[in-house]
Amino acid sequence: MLKVPEYIAELKPYVPGKPVEELERELGIKDSVKLASNENPLGPSEKALEAIDERLLGSLNRYPDGGGYYLKEALAQRLGVAEEEIILGNGSNELLDVAVRTFMKPGENAVMAWPSFVVYPMSVQAQGGTATMVPLTDFRHDLEAMALAVTPETKIIFIANPNNPTGTINTAAELDALMARVPEDVLVVLDEAYYEYVTGTSYADSMKHFRAGRNVLVLRTFSKIYGLAGLRVGYGIARREILAEMDKVREPFNTSTVAQAAALAALKDEEHVGRSRRINGEGKEFLYGELGSLGVRYVPTEANFVYMFVQDARKTYEALLMRGVIVRPMGPEALRVTVGLPEENRRFVAALGETLKERR
Ligand SMILES: Cc1ncc(COP(=O)(O)O)c(C=O)c1O
Repeated sequence: MLKVPEYIAELKPYVPGKPVEELERELGIKDSVKLASNENPLGPSEKALEAIDERLLGSLNRYPDGGGYYLKEALAQRLGVAEEEIILGNGSNELLDVAVRTFMKPGENAVMAWPSFVVYPMSVQAQGGTATMVPLTDFRHDLEAMALAVTPETKIIFIANPNNPTGTINTAAELDALMARVPEDVLVVLDEAYYEYVTGTSYADSMKHFRAGRNVLVLRTFSKIYGLAGLRVGYGIARREILAEMDKVREPFNTSTVAQAAALAALKDEEHVGRSRRINGEGKEFLYGELGSLGVRYVPTEANFVYMFVQDARKTYEALLMRGVIVRPMGPEALRVTVGLPEENRRFVAALGETLKERR
């Protein structure tokens, strides 16, 4: 009989959504809109697609460049850091997992907010660690309470800024206060998957703490504004001593040839990033107005999704699904809806309006 450690046996797997095509077949619907995974509705940058050319495809018999030379070089230039201060990952998801495996032993602890990105507690449990989940205050990370939750066993603090699923940010003053209290043997993971969407001027400056030589790992990704979620490429920025340890733990070829080339081109396509940001800003404003008219309470967002409150989120989710709109239920009374293209936002609002009317 194969035995797994208890903490693995008790781990609840991440449940991926069904492929859209399969869902449509089962429900007998067509032209559904997917607003469930905070992807870029504009699609990938044309330049990224062009970079996946014949020459590149013809080289797929070779392993990728395990050091990610060109992508790291471009990121280093863009960010004003050294190449050794960057690590590439199979999505930023892999990097937070590598951080856990590098810096935490079974029995040790990580502090995180809740609700926040579901992968943090899963990754910690997979390592046999314990997760202290500090409730959000006003839908934001309570960084003071999180600092107080640190014990001698704590090795990592996770901060999603903006937070998923609420779209809220923490301010520079709040992060500074937390950093002033964090012990020297704790790594602070500053997960900035939605960094490029933020417009709030008080947004915390994670790079300041990196430059000050603190134990921070700043995580960003090509999955969101760059529109490359399917290719799986993200990056981390940290002191070289931190990354030297993580480099031992990551897989040698963790980002593919195609992913590296497309990410490099996407990074340079500022027009696509700008357009994505603009569409998102307009979509947010549209949704705020329509949700207001429907009397649906929501949390103003700094990301590309909106957290909103409905009665019986599961039923609302199912009713929306029957109308071909796929969103994400979050607990009993909330939905998280990705900001889509104008037509997709209209489809969502119309479907939500009908669903709420049916209830009355
Ligand atoms: C807060 C947060 N962090 C990290 C990720 C992981 O993104 P990826 O692995 O695609 O870079 C996500 C994805 O939804 C997220 O919402």
